[in-house]
Amino acid sequence: MDSKLTKKPSATLTINNKQLELPVYAGSVGPDVVDIRKLYSDGKVFTYDPGFTSTGSCESQITYIDGDEGVLLYRGYPIDQLAEHSTFLEVCYLLANGELPNPEELKRFVKDITYHTMLHAQFDRFFEGFRRDAHPMAIMVGTVGALSAFYHDSTDIDDPVQRTVASHRLIAKMPTIAARAFKYHAGQPFVSPRNELDYPSNFLRMCFAVPAEDYKVNPLLARALDVFMILHADHEQNASTSTVRLAGSSGANPFACIASGIACLWGPAHGGANEAALKMLEQIGAVDNIPDFIRRVKDPKSDVRLMGFGHRVYKNYDPRAKAMQKLCHQVLKEVGATDNPMLKVAVELEKIALNDEYFVSRKLYPNIDFYSGITLRAMGFPTSMFTVLFAVARTVGWIAQWTEMMEDSSQKIGRPRQVYTGAPKRDYLALDKR
Ligand code: ACO
Repeated sequence: MDSKLTKKPSATLTINNKQLELPVYAGSVGPDVVDIRKLYSDGKVFTYDPGFTSTGSCESQITYIDGDEGVLLYRGYPIDQLAEHSTFLEVCYLLANGELPNPEELKRFVKDITYHTMLHAQFDRFFEGFRRDAHPMAIMVGTVGALSAFYHDSTDIDDPVQRTVASHRLIAKMPTIAARAFKYHAGQPFVSPRNELDYPSNFLRMCFAVPAEDYKVNPLLARALDVFMILHADHEQNASTSTVRLAGSSGANPFACIASGIACLWGPAHGGANEAALKMLEQIGAVDNIPDFIRRVKDPKSDVRLMGFGHRVYKNYDPRAKAMQKLCHQVLKEVGATDNPMLKVAVELEKIALNDEYFVSRKLYPNIDFYSGITLRAMGFPTSMFTVLFAVARTVGWIAQWTEMMEDSSQKIGRPRQVYTGAPKRDYLALDKR
């Protein structure tokens, strides 16, 4: 990747009676960055930024977020336009290659992905090792990591062609693995991919067909899943993507790197929030119980949070949440569940929170997870599959970011420093002297 940073007048830092000139760069849009790479060698200090709230870890040309304005762009294209007009595989091509494909390029890409949907026959044995009640995300972490055992020697990460093949394999095989995790959990036999179906229809069929009865794909639900995946495809340097980059920075196998991203995504502060948001709506149960719940959220002594609200970057309405809310209403109408009590609770909760001083002053708006759980439940997925679906969609973002890192000559192994506040050097005391 060629750097597109533009040099700006440098910044001066005065520290320990010394003046340091720090280069400043501008990207194409967004805030400038202060280059502190020489801070330790020239000034003998580190920066301290737990949670990386003010730290840029890389140059990237994939996704742009303006959290204050509620803007999300994939390669420059607004998320709402892509959700309205594009397909998930077209978005995969865009994220991976930088431009929208022409018809011929798209046809070839879809063929390449479709070609890789099957899993090695021996791969299925991995599932047998898990308890039937294993969480599907636990199965995902294990089995996607296991892909590295199948494609380790054949994946030369320094060869761009092999990197592309690894990307295609991941995008193609994730739905097959995710559907198997679901089937294993449900105690049903695995359903093989059918390559004449499009990507979301194939996934729905692998999840819901049974030997006794095939599954007739509802095109509206297939389109809803496609849009869900577009909305979740990438989100610049979030926790799981940074995990993938950090794992990849050591030169690790890409399949193992993606498994590390899945592990990070699982947590309730990240991808697990859609599961947590739905559980919260179920616990609240009825509109009448909302005031009491809000009281508990606002109580400084309680650690109850309004799940599906708030975001590290968005201090405005999450643009994905708007599209997700629209999708939610469409799906509930299609399956005849418009009087779903959880939807009623969600709509009322959102209304109250958007007008409540506590949430307004902290700029806490609904994020994508607030409505995604209700939508996926209406489509027939159990709660435990929500984060798995997120992982299937985010795989393209992870692998596009990993590839960009591999092509960036300025990247080094990721290795943050620390401020040590533990015991200074002391001598070992023999056991009988303690
Ligand atoms: N409900 C209630 N209060 C909240 C919430 C929430 N969901 N989120 C933040 N706050 C409050 C905090 O208590 C804090 O208040 P204080 O200043 O009085 O102490 C203030 O808002 C700032 O909160 P932080 O935790 O510092 O914000 P941060 O940027 O670190 O957290 C996060 C972002 C983790 C997403 C947080 O908003 C949260 O936990 N939300 C709920 C979980 C969730 O929906 N996660 C999904 C994120 S989107 C995604 O991964 C796809």
